[in-house]
Amino acid sequence: MAKRAKAVNKRSRAAAKLAAAKVAAPRAAASKFANVAPGELSTPLDFVRYAVSRFVEAKLVFAHGTTDPMAEAVFLVCETLHLHPDQFESFATARVTAQEAKAILDVIARRVTSRKPAAYLVNKIYMRGLPFYVDERVIVPRSFIGELLDSHFGGSDEEGALIDDPARVENVLDLCTGSGCLAILASRRFPNARIDAVDISSGALDVAARNVADYGLEDVITLHRGDLFAPLRDRRYDLILSNPPYVDAQGMADLPRECRAEPKLAFDGGADGLDIVRRILNEARAHLTAEGGLLCEIGRGRQALDAAFSQLPLLWLDSEDSDGEVFWIGAADL
Ligand SMILES: C[S@@+](CC[C@H](N)C(=O)[O-])C[C@H]1O[C@@H](n2cnc3c(N)ncnc32)[C@H](O)[C@@H]1O
Repeated sequence: MAKRAKAVNKRSRAAAKLAAAKVAAPRAAASKFANVAPGELSTPLDFVRYAVSRFVEAKLVFAHGTTDPMAEAVFLVCETLHLHPDQFESFATARVTAQEAKAILDVIARRVTSRKPAAYLVNKIYMRGLPFYVDERVIVPRSFIGELLDSHFGGSDEEGALIDDPARVENVLDLCTGSGCLAILASRRFPNARIDAVDISSGALDVAARNVADYGLEDVITLHRGDLFAPLRDRRYDLILSNPPYVDAQGMADLPRECRAEPKLAFDGGADGLDIVRRILNEARAHLTAEGGLLCEIGRGRQALDAAFSQLPLLWLDSEDSDGEVFWIGAADL
């Protein structure tokens, strides 16, 4: 009898051990995560495949310059190897060194565990193919206005052109400039323009100053600290660009973890998301030349804005990845 009890106890201890091992399994898998055996992954393509698996497994959100795990993995792997993402295909099957492999695994692990946007981990983002320095003092650039500058401001021959001759644009204002990315893109589109760029955040302006210097545009772009138009007094512009904060209260409450690493000031547009946009619309006319116009991104607030400013003929523009999230209005209609 005692012998049987001992055997049962032994079996249940073994079962308990097995159950404990099963419970511990996910932790073991998680710790293995950072411990890919040397040589198990050898090419950039291997590391991209591995990163995609980890990113999908961790349910990451992709909204900061890339929109899917593959593009995010290519960006991080290339950046670690000092390659432009466009060079990935050329080197996909090349061998990486042990030191490079370690650096790539490290950045993949940091992306998963920190949930920070990839751009913050490597202090870089590409917009319209151009590199910009970024850190946590600025939102990661992803404005649709970058694409619209190319598609709607290229010259009079283009269908849907909003300004006849980009070379005749003399003064541009980038309101809420953040990293300065739109001001810098505008300097390429309007080669004869002087550009003012305003932000209320001194941290953001430090980042913008670094980008302006990287592009050697100190003589073209002037940075101003202040609340919207306040630092500009009565200056007028041929074009005002703005990607202001426009997230409503519900959107702020639902921000994914990745976005919570970005400055709240860059998102928060008040209860209905339109606090800043309303002010821009009300004040823009006094800062536009007679032929000028305002190009402004507002996210998903189109319906609310159309209702609030029903007297204004806002022209809603689409981009490759957005549908009516940016409007244009000429000075004469404001
Ligand atoms: C959505 S981010 C846009 C940044 C950049 N233009 C871009 O597209 O990446 C909005 C920016 O507006 C700035 N901002 C917020 N309130 C402002 C205000 N009242 N006046 C000027 N800038 C403001 C924030 O600091 C932030 O840099």
